[in-house]
Amino acid sequence: MTTLSEKIKETAAFLQEKGMTAPAFGLILGSGLGELADEIENAISLDYADIPNWGRSTVVGHAGKLVYGDLAGRKVLALQGRFHFYEGNPMEVVTFPVRVMKALGAAGVIVTNAAGGIGYGPGTLMAISDHINMTGQNPLIGANLDEFGPRFPDMSDAYTKAYREKAHAVAEKLGIDLQEGVYLGVTGPTYETPAEIRAFQTLGASAVGMSTVPEVIVAAHSGLKVLGISAITNFAAGFQSELNHAEVVEVTERIKENFKGFVKAVLTEL
Ligand code: HPA
Repeated sequence: MTTLSEKIKETAAFLQEKGMTAPAFGLILGSGLGELADEIENAISLDYADIPNWGRSTVVGHAGKLVYGDLAGRKVLALQGRFHFYEGNPMEVVTFPVRVMKALGAAGVIVTNAAGGIGYGPGTLMAISDHINMTGQNPLIGANLDEFGPRFPDMSDAYTKAYREKAHAVAEKLGIDLQEGVYLGVTGPTYETPAEIRAFQTLGASAVGMSTVPEVIVAAHSGLKVLGISAITNFAAGFQSELNHAEVVEVTERIKENFKGFVKAVLTEL
């Protein structure tokens, strides 16, 4: 049986052969935010289906392409469409791209998502300061990959403070209203009940979503720096009368220009 470690090496070597060498940053682009990858210059692009050991994207609004090239003067490797646990992907598949980004030499990742706001309303951009893992899962369960990091990784600065400070400075310069808060990760695919949201509010969450936590745990394990940005697409359950995916798509559509400009400007500063 091929071990996870061997799969990571195999995929990294495959991507290097395709010219995807030494990205400085990984970009994980959430629901509706994948368009940023279309702005990558000198792009090399691969369909997920053509990459060995790679997952498949099944959500509407996620293109399913890996794009490498220059963005804002930086070499980036962008996931246009991520893998969610609720799609039935094992955690190993959800987090595999982060492993490969590290193996290719990336120093940091920018992780973005659409999220429900607890306090914050639709259209808000939120820098993630920390997370609460309510998925009941941990992607590091199983044999530890010693060559990546320790058995018991420290999560104290998983969302790198220095990156966040730079993000705030850029937002101020661009006149973008960037909030900050704790992201609480669930598995989905149901939206939360109003009672769950009241509980999460008590726990200190400012946003809730169905991604990001697994990828950031794996990034922290291997010492990758992280900037996490949530695009708040709706008030979380109980704060508005009903929730639906169409609203999430519509609000992301509305804020994506702002979002793209912001992420590019941040990239130049990291
Ligand atoms: N809950 C969970 N995930 C989400 C939400 C939400 O309200 N909005 C966008 N993604």
